[in-house]
Amino acid sequence: MISIMKNILITGGAGFIGSHVVRLFVSKYPNYRIINLDALTYAGNLENLRDIEHQSNYEFVKGDITNATFVNELFGKYQLDGVIHLAAESHVDRSIESPMDFIMTNVIGTVNLLNAARTSWDQGEEGKRFYHISTDEVYGSLDDGGFFLETTSYDPQSPYSASKASSDHLVRAYHNTYKLPVVISNCSNNYGPNQFPEKLLPLCINNIRHSRPLPIYGKGENVRDWLYVEDHATAIDVIYHKGKLGDTYNIGGFNEWQNIDIVRLLCEVMDQKLGRPLGESAKLITFVKDRAGHDLRYAIDASKLSNELGWKPSLQFEEGLDRTVDWYLANNSWMEHVTSGAYKNYYDQQYSER
Ligand code: NAD
Ligand code: DAU
Repeated sequence: MISIMKNILITGGAGFIGSHVVRLFVSKYPNYRIINLDALTYAGNLENLRDIEHQSNYEFVKGDITNATFVNELFGKYQLDGVIHLAAESHVDRSIESPMDFIMTNVIGTVNLLNAARTSWDQGEEGKRFYHISTDEVYGSLDDGGFFLETTSYDPQSPYSASKASSDHLVRAYHNTYKLPVVISNCSNNYGPNQFPEKLLPLCINNIRHSRPLPIYGKGENVRDWLYVEDHATAIDVIYHKGKLGDTYNIGGFNEWQNIDIVRLLCEVMDQKLGRPLGESAKLITFVKDRAGHDLRYAIDASKLSNELGWKPSLQFEEGLDRTVDWYLANNSWMEHVTSGAYKNYYDQQYSER
């Protein structure tokens, strides 16, 4: 019988990155009770956690962080030692269509959690920690040179990144004003198993499989910096345990790719795995209307995290991509479940006019 030493709330744990963080914490820390709070929006899927859902140190709570009363009651029920906050609306294209959903969850939802933590930890913050997970998109767009540092000024360009920037500022404000024990990280683009197929790589994997067009926005020249999702989860583990309170850490793998190049590589990998002639899948590439306000380039300098806390990514990109494709090919039922129903409407609306 293992005795529980700490109660940790992970928000958004049924989503893509959250599910990998929940799995890591539940498996690695049997003396932590991991409470996964998730509203199960279109992006939240308990299938992502089937392998660990019966562990005795894991609990799932369905709930919405925009509901302040619910969030306060949750903090009252569990004597929380820590919060790892991932719940968010996360897709840039959806933020262009419906910005308000992003303001509600990413801004108001974050403030509800901050307020509840502040009230609940009023009697003593010793050992407590509020860890806010953010994105490199808050820094805006780079041209050909340079990297985002922790000191780079914020310059968000989309409703999504503006809502995340707003939440970052509020988290810092609660540290400065109320001494809430916070830490923040800003990560580059993640890829890997369980990512919802609205995002570039899983969307293309699914479309290649079904020989459907691969929609590349604009000329495909935009650059993203890709990190395998399990490496993000290990960085979150390190920062949660060793990060300095009040500090920010950038997370990334120094792995920049133009969209057109990463999709071409994916096509080659999938041709091999599906036994198609080399070059077959690349014929599906279709250039479509660009995303409004499309950021040109993101590139993270993660030296602070490696120098101060000793974290490094474990995987080379080619190996990560290989694992990712293998996972999607082996888990077709996962893809079928998430693409049935509302996904089809979203897809038709998003791509029919491009
Ligand atoms: P996701 O969209 O896959 O998952 C988000 C989860 O949050 C879902 O399970 C959803 O049900 C839940 N959620 C949404 N609104 C909620 C609400 N109001 N109350 C409770 N739960 C709610 O997102 P993701 O890609 O896993 O991203 C997780 C976090 O990491 C986000 O904060 C995002 O900004 C950040 N991030 C993502 C990336 C990336 O490449 N995906 C990179 C850097 C940072
Ligand atoms: O940088 C971190 C961010 O990465 C996270 O904060 C976001 O939550 C996450 O969604 C991601 O944002 P991006 O907009 O970079 O990811 P997305 O997969 O939507 O797009 C990656 C690139 O591919 C981007 O330049 C837009 C382009 N793209 C995307 C889609 C969906 C296409 O060309 N075609 C597409 O159909």
